[in-house]
Amino acid sequence: MKNITRNNLTDTVKSSFSNIEDERLRHLVNRLSHHLHAFASETQLTHEEWREGIAFLHRAADISSPSRSEFTLLSDVLGLSSLVDLMAARPGATEGSVLGPFHTRGSPWMDNGSNLIRNNPGDPVLIRGRVTDIHGQALPEATIDFWQNADNGMYWQMDDTQPQDNLRCQMKVLPDGHFELVTIRPRPYLVPTDGPVGELLRVSHRDAWRPAHYHVIVEAPGYRSLITEVFDSSDPWVDKDAVFGVRASLVCDFKSESDSHTAARLGLPAQYFAIDLPIRLARED
Ligand code: BEZ
Ligand code: FE
Repeated sequence: MKNITRNNLTDTVKSSFSNIEDERLRHLVNRLSHHLHAFASETQLTHEEWREGIAFLHRAADISSPSRSEFTLLSDVLGLSSLVDLMAARPGATEGSVLGPFHTRGSPWMDNGSNLIRNNPGDPVLIRGRVTDIHGQALPEATIDFWQNADNGMYWQMDDTQPQDNLRCQMKVLPDGHFELVTIRPRPYLVPTDGPVGELLRVSHRDAWRPAHYHVIVEAPGYRSLITEVFDSSDPWVDKDAVFGVRASLVCDFKSESDSHTAARLGLPAQYFAIDLPIRLARED
């Protein structure tokens, strides 16, 4: 019989996981046990608080569905998603930022220079990018997966008035790594607050706004995939992102342009906005 005491409990729990065969998983479960116990000890967690914490997690599970993960949103507002992104950064490569819940696999493939605007109201924007390695060498096999919200702030999955796959596409870059895409200016929007994460934001007097942004995933064989965002420097929420995704290097000025040749070539109005998006990928480790 082992007499479990306040002094031996944590070590006993940790050693109960010592037979996990996968070395990394064994380490993660050991450190999770360690830090959970340290948290409860440091805060002198009471029964009532422990029960309330479990109830919070139940509410997160109840509101989650295949198209909504309250646990991911919890990770986002706690800055955990952003911490994992920042730790994955590689010198010289474009910085990563949160994936968010509105990425869908299998967006339509479109030709370089495509125009996503269709019936969308909003300010037209030309995105000009180039995908290279960290030394500036073009990556001709790179692909772009792009998505954004509409002028009403909503992604198509949240809004019956938008067609499926509105304002999203996949695209291959040109042999010199360049790509062009015509779309609208993104809008700031509120992360969902009807679940327990909303309770946490309200009790903290925190805003639920995300500054206007585009999402991109850039992939090329032999290189680390990049999941990132591009933010509008003029957005009032750029200093106060609810999910801590903004990095200075990802904030862009939307410049007003009126090049008639470019406008005619890409189906833009005479006056449009343009942003430049250099993407640098690091080699796979
Ligand atoms: C988004 O960018 O769409 C997003 C990111 C994190 C939480 C909610 C939404
Ligand atoms: Fe988003």
